[in-house]
Amino acid sequence: MEIIRNPAAMTSWANRVTATGAAIGLVPTMGYFHEGHLSLMRAARKGADHVVVSLFVNPIQFGPNEDLAAYPRDFARDCRLAEAEGVDILFAPEAAGMYPEATKTKVVVSGLTSGLCGGSRPGHFDGVTTVVAKLFNVVKPRIAIFGQKDFQQLAVIRQMVRDLNWDIEIVGHPIVREADGLAMSSRNSYLSADQRRTALCLYRAIRHAGERVRQGVVDAELLVAEITEMIHSQGGVEIDYIALVDRDSLEPLGVLRPGTLLAMAVKVGRTRLIDNDLIC
Ligand code: PAF
Repeated sequence: MEIIRNPAAMTSWANRVTATGAAIGLVPTMGYFHEGHLSLMRAARKGADHVVVSLFVNPIQFGPNEDLAAYPRDFARDCRLAEAEGVDILFAPEAAGMYPEATKTKVVVSGLTSGLCGGSRPGHFDGVTTVVAKLFNVVKPRIAIFGQKDFQQLAVIRQMVRDLNWDIEIVGHPIVREADGLAMSSRNSYLSADQRRTALCLYRAIRHAGERVRQGVVDAELLVAEITEMIHSQGGVEIDYIALVDRDSLEPLGVLRPGTLLAMAVKVGRTRLIDNDLIC
């Protein structure tokens, strides 16, 4: 596995490879790999001739009071894990390489970014779409793989790719969970043992929603109220949002129907966790 730090060197490599007709699969990440990331790398390997994993903790997608400085990092371990997955290139630019001077251009997707995580993290998705657009231009992938845990991010990126006529297939990969159901996340490393147990409320909520749907419940307000009550009753959790939305438009639904996504964001201590599931 080769490590490339410089965006221009990355593009030279990509130009050489794509000139032969080979397809590049890109897995954009912020590092601190877990099984979820590794499964994205395997999916990229299946869909492309060469796999590039980008590792960049993108400063412009963090708000002023968020965890940019604390975000977990372990470059040596990430290199070992990526290499073991047969990744060809680990593209790990410095912030100064990605944003050589105060950046004057942003890629902004409107509408889809205003609610849910976009509502509580203003500017977050502008940072995501800007860096992903730059990664697409630098790495020139034919396919790019994203985890479905960040379902809103995935919807926003699909929209951006359609709107900007990129010939890139966006693949959403299912959430990878721990044995007890907690969705894997680099941020889980912030949790104490107690908080780790508390965080399971998200998976319990998903199971409850699935059970209620099987019982025939279709009233979204009722289901959100039940889940809110469930989560509040256990304590130690601050709810950011619990929403039942259409999987594509992300519009809130009053009545559950096929394509309904349960989406949640909570804070356990200072750690913000998200989870979601297609409940019908
Ligand atoms: O999902 C992430 O890890 C990040 O938002 C991404 C897509 C790598 C952009 O920085």
